[in-house]
Amino acid sequence: MPSLSNSDELIFCVNGRKVIEKNADPEVYLLFYLRKILHLTGTKYSCGSGGCGACTVMVSRYDPKTKKIHHYPVTACLVPICSLHGAAVTTVEGVGSIKTRIHPVQERLAKCHGTQCGFCSPGMVMSIYTLLRNHPEPTPEQITEALGGNLCRCTGYRPIVESGKTFCAESTVCQMKGSGKCCMDQEEKSFTSRQEKMCTKLYNEDEFQPFDPTQEPIFPPELIRMAEDPNKRRLTFRGKRTTWITPVNLNDLLELKTSFPEAPIIMGNTAVGPSIKFRDEFHPVFISPLGLQELYFVDSTDDGVTIGAGYSLAQLNDALHFIVSEQPKEKTKTYHALLKHLRTLAGAQIRNMATLGGHVVSRPNYSDLNPILAAGNATINLISKEGKRQIPLDGRFLEKSPEANLKSEETVLSVYIPHSTQWHFVSGLRIAQRQENAFAIVNAGMSVKFEDGTDTIKELQMFYGSVGPTVVSASKTCQQLIGRKWNDQMLSDACRLVLDEIYIPPDAEGGMVEYRRTLIISLLFKFYLKVRRGLNKMDPHKFPDIPEKFVSALEDFPIETPQGIQMFQCVDPHQPLQDPVGHPVMHQSAIKHTTGEAVFVDDMPPISQELFLAVVTSTRAHAKIILIDTSAALALPGVVDVITAEDVPGDNSYQGEIFYAQNEVICVGQIVCTVAADTYAHAKEAAKKVRIVYEDLEPRIITIEQALEHNSFLSAEKKIEQGDVEQAFKYVDQIIEGKVHVEGQEHFYMETQTILAIPQEEDKEMVLHLGTQFQTHVQEYVAAALNIPRNRIACHTKRAGGAFGGKVSKPALLGAVSAVAAKKTGHPIRFILERGDDMLITAGRHPLLGKYKIGFMNNGVIKAADIEYYINGGCSPDESELVMEFMVLRSENAYYIPNFRCRGRPCKTNLPSNTAFRGFGFPQGIVVGEAYITAVASQCDLTPEQVKEINMYKRNSRTAHKQTFNPEPLRRCWKECLEKSSFSARKLAAEEFNKKNYWKKRGLAAVPMKFTVGMPTAFYNQAAALVHIYLDGSVLVSHSGCELGQGLHTKMIQVASRELNIPESYIHLSETNTTTVSNATFTAGSMGADINGKAVQNACQILKARLEPVIRKNPRGTWEAWISEAYKESISLSTTGYFKGYQTNMDWKKGEGNAFPYFVYGASCSEVEVDCLTGAHKLLRTDIFMDAAFSINPAVDIGQIEGAFVQGMGFYTIEELKYSPEGVLYSRGPDDYKIPTVTEIPEEFNVTLVCSQNPIAIYSSKGLGEAGMFLGSSVLFAIYDAVAAARRERGLTKTFTLSSPATPELIRMTCVDQFTDMIPRDDPSTFTPWSIHVS
Ligand SMILES: Cc1cc2nc3c(=O)[nH]c(=O)nc-3n(C[C@H](O)[C@H](O)[C@H](O)COP(=O)(O)OP(=O)(O)OC[C@H]3O[C@@H](n4cnc5c(N)ncnc54)[C@H](O)[C@@H]3O)c2cc1C
Ligand code: FES
Ligand code: FES
Repeated sequence: MPSLSNSDELIFCVNGRKVIEKNADPEVYLLFYLRKILHLTGTKYSCGSGGCGACTVMVSRYDPKTKKIHHYPVTACLVPICSLHGAAVTTVEGVGSIKTRIHPVQERLAKCHGTQCGFCSPGMVMSIYTLLRNHPEPTPEQITEALGGNLCRCTGYRPIVESGKTFCAESTVCQMKGSGKCCMDQEEKSFTSRQEKMCTKLYNEDEFQPFDPTQEPIFPPELIRMAEDPNKRRLTFRGKRTTWITPVNLNDLLELKTSFPEAPIIMGNTAVGPSIKFRDEFHPVFISPLGLQELYFVDSTDDGVTIGAGYSLAQLNDALHFIVSEQPKEKTKTYHALLKHLRTLAGAQIRNMATLGGHVVSRPNYSDLNPILAAGNATINLISKEGKRQIPLDGRFLEKSPEANLKSEETVLSVYIPHSTQWHFVSGLRIAQRQENAFAIVNAGMSVKFEDGTDTIKELQMFYGSVGPTVVSASKTCQQLIGRKWNDQMLSDACRLVLDEIYIPPDAEGGMVEYRRTLIISLLFKFYLKVRRGLNKMDPHKFPDIPEKFVSALEDFPIETPQGIQMFQCVDPHQPLQDPVGHPVMHQSAIKHTTGEAVFVDDMPPISQELFLAVVTSTRAHAKIILIDTSAALALPGVVDVITAEDVPGDNSYQGEIFYAQNEVICVGQIVCTVAADTYAHAKEAAKKVRIVYEDLEPRIITIEQALEHNSFLSAEKKIEQGDVEQAFKYVDQIIEGKVHVEGQEHFYMETQTILAIPQEEDKEMVLHLGTQFQTHVQEYVAAALNIPRNRIACHTKRAGGAFGGKVSKPALLGAVSAVAAKKTGHPIRFILERGDDMLITAGRHPLLGKYKIGFMNNGVIKAADIEYYINGGCSPDESELVMEFMVLRSENAYYIPNFRCRGRPCKTNLPSNTAFRGFGFPQGIVVGEAYITAVASQCDLTPEQVKEINMYKRNSRTAHKQTFNPEPLRRCWKECLEKSSFSARKLAAEEFNKKNYWKKRGLAAVPMKFTVGMPTAFYNQAAALVHIYLDGSVLVSHSGCELGQGLHTKMIQVASRELNIPESYIHLSETNTTTVSNATFTAGSMGADINGKAVQNACQILKARLEPVIRKNPRGTWEAWISEAYKESISLSTTGYFKGYQTNMDWKKGEGNAFPYFVYGASCSEVEVDCLTGAHKLLRTDIFMDAAFSINPAVDIGQIEGAFVQGMGFYTIEELKYSPEGVLYSRGPDDYKIPTVTEIPEEFNVTLVCSQNPIAIYSSKGLGEAGMFLGSSVLFAIYDAVAAARRERGLTKTFTLSSPATPELIRMTCVDQFTDMIPRDDPSTFTPWSIHVS
């Protein structure tokens, strides 16, 4: 940082080391400082908005008043360094390291298999570590709570929670605990009917180092001295554009507020920070009274409690818990309501940063606390140089009415919350896309006071969040109801009145208009019931209770700590001890993941003269580019160049993919140009200054329906057919037709696309470091863009922080874009996509429109099916044609339908181009099949499971594309799934539950699966390896697969270890690169371990054969001796290995072929509970039975299954991309795109690997990377089952259309009732909605 005068020194500690920053810049955030200035790269960037937890670190502060040290987690991406004066920061590097000592948190997370790609792992470590610093023996609930703000896209969370649970006072890992016998205590279990030995231990707790909380580093004494210094003074930090002032005491703060009335007070910075980062707010001065003693206190009186504005929401939570424990219940209703929302508001990090004062003043329209505070008659204590005053925290304040506001020179000192009273009820209600860490879709704070001893309303208050630009008060409604009795008539009038008063226009921002209208009255109804129950409790004779069937409507779903059992085949006791194959070996990089020492691309140290790249993307879906004016951008400091299509030396449009837009843009988010500058901040600032003039072009095609209207397709139709479909329809009992919409999905890999492109001095060589699944593709595109041969381009992939298909084709395009910039500027280019850009540019899973016509007999036998698939491919070919081929080929799933036809076409639209995604079309396509099965069941009065059973493949058969297979493992998975999950008994129990509960319904569903591995094009199935044995006996393995977190390298080490008959410790696997293994196929399609395993095996066997004569001569020799001898005998100790690939073929003209090397079978069963009033659901239990054949590494395979299942579950339920009618993607970060968190996973999650034979694959294993994804649909269909039960009870027996995802909105609006009937509806032809579906 350049030197600036008059700036104080900023002093804080990082991992015990003192940091003195002489020129602290208020615009610099801790995450940047750690990564780029201190080079502590263990802390990761993933979203920059506080929403993912990848950047979690621990902050510790000494409180001179209490003389205690306070440790708390924060998201470093929202912490300005200037706020850290006097604080101690601990990063993952400070917790432990391979170089020094691994901390038990790191060790256990690794050994419990809680890491896959490892990108989230440092954040997970920090969250658990911080919890342990405060609670050395936490409860399981505390573990779950501590992890609520940390996203993981790979593992499905179960092993992460489990690693945390190992610190709990008693081991709570096993769900059988309490039944007297713990499954973990048994080494082996006899589980299946065929008496296979099954194991349940994926790790050995005995290997864990003990955890000794007294061994943690001490708080730096110097910081204690600083905190206690009686001569403290005001601190000023001056940056290049802004000044940060920390007042020394309250008077000083008031002085500053008078001098700089417009300057924001920075407390947690969780409201101001995101506004600066994402909404381009600018403040020249910040005032930060963080730590000012006068703002931190709790003052409890007989009437209420006053809480200092500086209290974080976590401290508020603790204070309220204390008060609740002290005061009689009737006084604490407001506190209880606040506590309920405090549990789910954001994640632990944000709750520890955000303050009460900041929350109250920032007044977000989604605020969870303000509506309750207002309903509880809270007041705000203000102070300024003029003196003190109180203002009510009421409707006028929340609606930002100017006369009710604080004045610009005023500061909030505290908030007073009065006790509730006897005939007084206060509640907080909320529904969000996900239970925790998600803004409310609608929330409310409500309170009612009755005339003593009666149910006559004396005072009523209702405040709603997320129904308009501010929290709103339904004051007129409340006024009109005063004096009324609390009865059904009052409720009915209240609903009518409130709907009149709170009007959400049909085109309102945020969409979901009818849903939000319904929620306004559904939440009111919940409050009504709660109050009636409360009155009844106070005087049962006077006030009748609510119907028993309504009781379950009162409570939200509890947050439980997940648990479950994982079962897998035990290793043959005769297998040599050294042979790791079949054992649950820890991920090769797991410890490095958890210590933050695993290097991802942006963790690589700066390269001399490197430049940063920022993108300028199209804001129009289809338009002519009239002008690109880069002059203003080029004039900014630090900017080196702006790169456009003109600068591409080779092909700018290669295989239909355009690198830089030229003349016209074809989607919002297309790269038009890039800016290269000395820092990312400069590049980004300049990118905003590039002016592009467009002229809109017609047509603008966004949805599949629009594409069909315009006949806009990316490729020809793909079709398979068997039997005579038309003829069969003539002889069936019934025919049904339907449509299924399945929306898309964002990959949300935790590491965004990151590329380092380094031009070399000689021979036009270019080196690229990037996380990709397909290096050959990158090489090919870069070669095309630069117009140089591929042999000049070297791609290196150490690891990727998750990929899920999103790093198959897109890195090629982004690689070309950055290589062109590197070529033009002559500088190395560091290109890290921000989360928002990544989501916008790289797109994801194809949305699908499925149409079906099904002919069947009354007994449930399906005779004919005619299926049509249309997917939204976006603006360029990418892999859409291949996705459609896969979709069509796999469309029959597990069912034999004698007359079957499936046709499909990818549509060309003006959206960013959709691409590969785990499951490659299967998770979308097969929903259509399961939907028609469910529809048939409903028509035949059978359960869906019965219809599945009736139509499932039963014996050696041929698929619709005429490939023979034996479905025996499918039958076994299905049978065991139903039996072992006690499906029938639980189904009956759910029906009983449903009879007794009107507003909550349970549903169960089981889905069978026949999935495929490998590619229908044989040459895609090839792989190569290169194995070197060095003279000390150590072995270096390289192969064509990329490590994406799926444990591929770990399995390859296991293979090499078995083949060479040496311990794993001899074998190293460094990276994947194009210089060691050329022309590698993609690491995708679940075949990474299959094909690379064969190649590695081949190489090892060649070497072993070469060594054989040496070994024979000295059979008792050591490996090292044999190697030494072999060298002396001039035996080559290096070889390539090759796997030609599975011989597959597909003739699309005939629609037949042996398209896939083999099938993977599985089944899953899920049980959910649905809240019909809000649309929320809770996943109670899931059982998965997956045909793993023989698992090379059960920990890795179970990890893949669980992770894919949770990703699938997210896809089918809460993950929802929002597009404007003009094709603009709104959802560009974790704030508005919700992937599952730890609270979404099944409360009970059981996974069993079912054994079978698969001689074609290495060690008779199967590829399991993707198959679990579709099993997530058991949750979708369980929701469907629950919703159907609700509808039946309401007299709606007709089949209803089910789409995916089954969001809270969809669930609520399908559970039709008096409230959905009551809301105003708008004529769709009279307005343009805020968002549209694109499927
Ligand atoms: C990832 C994330 C998730 C979130 N999830 C939720 C959620 O689920 N529910 C929810 O309700 N909220 C949520 N929030 C919002 C969060 O509650 C607020 O941002 C937070 O409470 C603001 O507090 P702060 O201390 O960080 O304020 P700051 O950002 O520091 O300040 C905010 C504003 O308040 C003013 N201010 C602060 N203190 C005072 C004072 N003492 N006197 C006068 N003015 C003051 C500042 O001038 C500024 O204008 C979330 C935020 C993030 C980043
Ligand atoms: S990077 Fe900070 S929370 Fe996501
Ligand atoms: S291991 Fe958690 S994101 Fe990959």
